[in-house]
Amino acid sequence: MSASVPRLLAFAGSLRQGSFNRRLIHVLAEGARNAGAEVTLVELRDYPLPVYYGDIEAAGMPEAVRQLQRLMGEHDGLLISTPEYNGSMPALVKNTLDWISRPTAEGGSGVGLFQDKVAGIVSASPGPLGGLRSLLVLRDALAKLGLLVVPQQVAVGQASDKLPDYGVLADDRQKTQVHGVGAAVVRHLTRAGATT
Ligand SMILES: Cc1cc2nc3c(=O)[nH]c(=O)nc-3n(C[C@H](O)[C@H](O)[C@H](O)COP(=O)(O)O)c2cc1C
Repeated sequence: MSASVPRLLAFAGSLRQGSFNRRLIHVLAEGARNAGAEVTLVELRDYPLPVYYGDIEAAGMPEAVRQLQRLMGEHDGLLISTPEYNGSMPALVKNTLDWISRPTAEGGSGVGLFQDKVAGIVSASPGPLGGLRSLLVLRDALAKLGLLVVPQQVAVGQASDKLPDYGVLADDRQKTQVHGVGAAVVRHLTRAGATT
């Protein structure tokens, strides 16, 4: 594939109706689009996955894994808005990454789908720290998979006040920062000439 427009896959790490992170991922996607990216925003509830264990894989890879692997292969990077559960990323986010990392339908490396791609991460929580600790863990996990995670990140606290709706962040300074995360991802991909 060759394209000069960076293509980013975006998702929120929550299945919850009214999820603050689903509201926030729209803001991050907007920032990346404003900076020139094409963003594919998916809902993980459309890709229902069991908790990973090898017997399920041995019995036949779930179709949702194949779909997510195809999507990852077609994009140059990831945008994720994650909740924080007990100081870490939710099982949903880790489970999704773990499934994608399994061998592809063509027998290629699933981990290879992430290699040298670029990620931007944000978090939201009703609490004062905004899920900051989940970002540290997620950053580490993404780096382990071979993604370059841009240093800019934003944790939006008091999310019930600040994120009243999808794509609405009622704190102008933080909105600029979240847009800045998306722009940084685009900048890295454009500089590196790394688009698919
Ligand atoms: C099991 C569990 C653990 C949680 N742990 C934390 C936590 O460590 N820090 C935090 O800020 N919020 C924590 N929360 C609250 C979440 O931030 C809150 O449920 C948030 O709305 C989840 O994100 P969402 O709105 O995108 O679904 C926890 C919630 C659950 C269910």
